[in-house]
This record gives sequence, C-alpha cells and structure tokens, in this order.
Amino acid sequence: MTTFTKEIHVRAATIEDKTSLLNLEQAVVEAERPFNAQIKTTAHYYDLDDLLINENAQVVVAEHKGTIIATGYVQIRQSKQSLTHSKHGYLGFMYVSPEFRGQALNQSIIQSLMAWAEPKGICDFYLDVYNDNQAAINAYQKLGFEPSLLEMKVNTAK
Ligand SMILES: CC(C)(COP(=O)(O)OP(=O)(O)OC[C@H]1O[C@@H](n2cnc3c(N)ncnc32)[C@H](O)[C@@H]1OP(=O)(O)O)[C@@H](O)C(=O)NCCC(=O)NCCS
Repeated sequence: MTTFTKEIHVRAATIEDKTSLLNLEQAVVEAERPFNAQIKTTAHYYDLDDLLINENAQVVVAEHKGTIIATGYVQIRQSKQSLTHSKHGYLGFMYVSPEFRGQALNQSIIQSLMAWAEPKGICDFYLDVYNDNQAAINAYQKLGFEPSLLEMKVNTAK
C-alpha cells in the first residue's frame, strides 16, 4: 500500500497475520487497563476472523523488518437513523509498539484506512477512546477528530 519510511511498510493485513494480531490485541487491552478497572483479565476486543475477510472492513498493519509494529482497522457500519449520513467508518485496534511511538505512525495508518473507505462513499469517521488516554487523543486530534459523545458509567456493586 504505502511506504512510511525506508524500513516501515504499511500494508493491508491478511488472515495469515491473525496470530500476530491476537498478540497485539492483548497489548491494546493492557494499554487500556489503567483506564478501566472493569476490563476482564482475559479480554478480547476484536472479531478478527470477520474484520480480516469481510469486504466492509479493512485491517492495516505497519511492518518493520518483518514484524508488525502498528495496527488499525476501519469497518463500514450503518449509522443511526437520526443522522444525515447512512453509513460511517468506525476505527479501532489503534496500536503502535512503544519504541515506534511519536512518529505519527498511527496518523499514517488512519489516513490509509480513510483512503480505503472514502471511495466507498464514507466521509464520516468515529472511534472510541478513554478520556484519560491523552496520547491517543492527541494523535486523533492531529487528524481533525473532535470529542463528541461522552459515555458515563457508575458501578453500584457494594
Ligand atoms: C495511541 C497510539 C496508537 C498513538 O500512536 P503514535 O503513532 O505514537 O501517535 P503520534 O506519533 O501521532 O503521537 C501521538 C501522541 O503520543 C505521545 N507520544 C509521543 N511520543 C511518544 C513516545 N515516544 N512514547 C509514548 N507516547 C508518545 C504524544 O502525546 C503524542 O502527541 P504530541 O505529539 O501532540 O505530543 C499509541 O500511543 C499507542 O499504541 N498507545 C497504546 C494503545 C492505545 O492506547 N490505543 C488507543 C486506543 S483508543
């Protein structure tokens, strides 16, 4: 797909990447654990079998010397009937290995995902991020994302 630097290559993921992606999924879970005490010890976030083969989704990875160091997906979803757009792109699985952070690699992945969705008529994109995940919020704001819906929760167990 695109070349980020000489040594980092951004490409569409395939089903052969599933094992690596399952490991990176756990890295996202661990990165988010400090933001939500109710994440299960063994949590799974993504339906990779579907995301990797469904024509309504695209998973993109960045590779460095044969190792996947960054991920992301976009899935075309039906929007709420109350909105002016009937479909939107939902972005998820945003992860960059710690040693490669701060180089706008996530930005490159999101741009690649948007470039895949836009010719399909998608120009509205959404994602979820924890309020305290400032590094992620900074990365998304650089691409024009703005805070929108705020999820509120309470745990009433004694
Ligand atoms: C969120 C994430 C994907 C951003 O990727 P990235 O490629 O580093 O993004 P950017 O290079 O655009 O940097 C974004 C912000 O990361 C922070 N950052 C910069 N360098 C960093 C480094 N070396 N290490 C950690 N964070 C760094 C900064 O706050 C930066 O914002 P700033 O440049 O305005 O100061 C990455 O931090 C990550 O994988 N985090 C763990 C998983 C996660 O939380 N995913 C998001 C779920 S919603």
